[in-house]
Amino acid sequence: KPWEHAKAGEGSAADPLAARFVASLDYDTRLYKQDIAGSRAHAAMLHAQNLLTDEDLSEINRGLSEIESEIDEQGDNWSGWNVELEDVHMCVEAALVAKTGDAGRKLHTGRSRNDQVALDLKLWIADAYHSIDKKYTNLIEAFISLAEKDGEVVMPSYTHLQRAQPIVAGGELMAWTAAIDRAQQRLAALVHSYPENPLGSGAIAGSSLPLNRDMTAEVLGVGPASMNSIDGTASRDAGIDFVYALSMTAMTLSRWAEQWIIYASTEFSFIKLDDLYTTGSSMMPQKQNPDMLELVRGKVSGVYGQLIALLTMTKGITIGYNRDLQEDKRFIFTAYDAVCDCLDMATNIVKTTRFKGEHIAAKLNEGFLDATSLAEYLVNRGVPFRTSHQIVGSLVRKCQADNLTELSDLTIEQMANASKEFNVTFDKDVYDWLTPQNVVKRYQSSGNSGLPGFKAQLAHWKNVLANN
Ligand code: ARG
Repeated sequence: KPWEHAKAGEGSAADPLAARFVASLDYDTRLYKQDIAGSRAHAAMLHAQNLLTDEDLSEINRGLSEIESEIDEQGDNWSGWNVELEDVHMCVEAALVAKTGDAGRKLHTGRSRNDQVALDLKLWIADAYHSIDKKYTNLIEAFISLAEKDGEVVMPSYTHLQRAQPIVAGGELMAWTAAIDRAQQRLAALVHSYPENPLGSGAIAGSSLPLNRDMTAEVLGVGPASMNSIDGTASRDAGIDFVYALSMTAMTLSRWAEQWIIYASTEFSFIKLDDLYTTGSSMMPQKQNPDMLELVRGKVSGVYGQLIALLTMTKGITIGYNRDLQEDKRFIFTAYDAVCDCLDMATNIVKTTRFKGEHIAAKLNEGFLDATSLAEYLVNRGVPFRTSHQIVGSLVRKCQADNLTELSDLTIEQMANASKEFNVTFDKDVYDWLTPQNVVKRYQSSGNSGLPGFKAQLAHWKNVLANN
């Protein structure tokens, strides 16, 4: 990058380290579009307030448009990037002055880099939100398409990572779908929670010039002018909210990755990851490691790190701009890039994974998955639940003592004998409540993760997507 080789300016006493140290140009060039949009709005407002002539305004707009297309085309190689100028705001303004002379020299009227950067960041978050929002939807679509392929595979659910009740694979896929949808909505809610325009706050105290802050707010679509000029320049709440919502997304993805790493193990063999998303070992020829899932889990630590960095950065600074705040963008961009990558990677993995129905079925009779269903059978026959829980517990122990793997291996007589003291009877319809295959069809409560619940949720999500 050319600015890395630029010399330090007079202001930094010709110390190249000081120039590099104080500059944010190696990460804030990402803000150039937002910076130019903010400048256009500011110029339009200054013009409306008779602080710029018609000619000044058209010169400024011409210059800004040229600069925008130059950076669009040249990116990092744009000749205007100069580390001596510290940041994107100064580089763009210097280029504007070079192109338009006095018109450009008027642009910064009633403005400071403090309100400028606060605005740019808000605009950037709004734009970033629009790009990342689609990635959540893509992932939800991937979960739904996998659910349509393999959703009816009967499998165990786990609490404490111990076999719990039978579900269908689609029930679990709908769980991830609900969690990702919530993460998507959380981000939307936080991004839109405090729409405020910091521009016009100046450096800290506002301006004696007749700035119309509601006008720039309207042009930029960021919401009304912020209430207080000090808070407007000194708060970074919007950035922290953004990274918090990203952290929650990353946490959800990490949890999913962990689950699927377990499912992809030989011991579980519940899913087959596509070869594209496994890697070999340099030594062990047979290996297919779920490295991409591991990195989805691994990258979350960095995202959390950025959140903690932002919270820590702000905790000790007085209410007014301090240069510490410049680091915010580094943290926010890093977290955002990581979560974007994780969402995309997750989508590709989900799209290409299949559930191994036969492997799962082969061991489905282990773990007495239908025990709760049998207890509910007795409830239907008038037995208090605590009693039926006790009865089924004794039936499970009988199976274990007699080396029977499943409750359905018991005859009706064995069931009645084992629970004689409770004075209950069993009918042959009891077998409709037994075996995982039967149980997944019996769930009735809304939101259940058996077959009926899965089908209802699938229909719900397809409807949501169709109306997006
Ligand atoms: N690049 C700086 C930032 O991101 C701009 C603000 C500099 N303001 C100042 N008063 N020195 O925060």
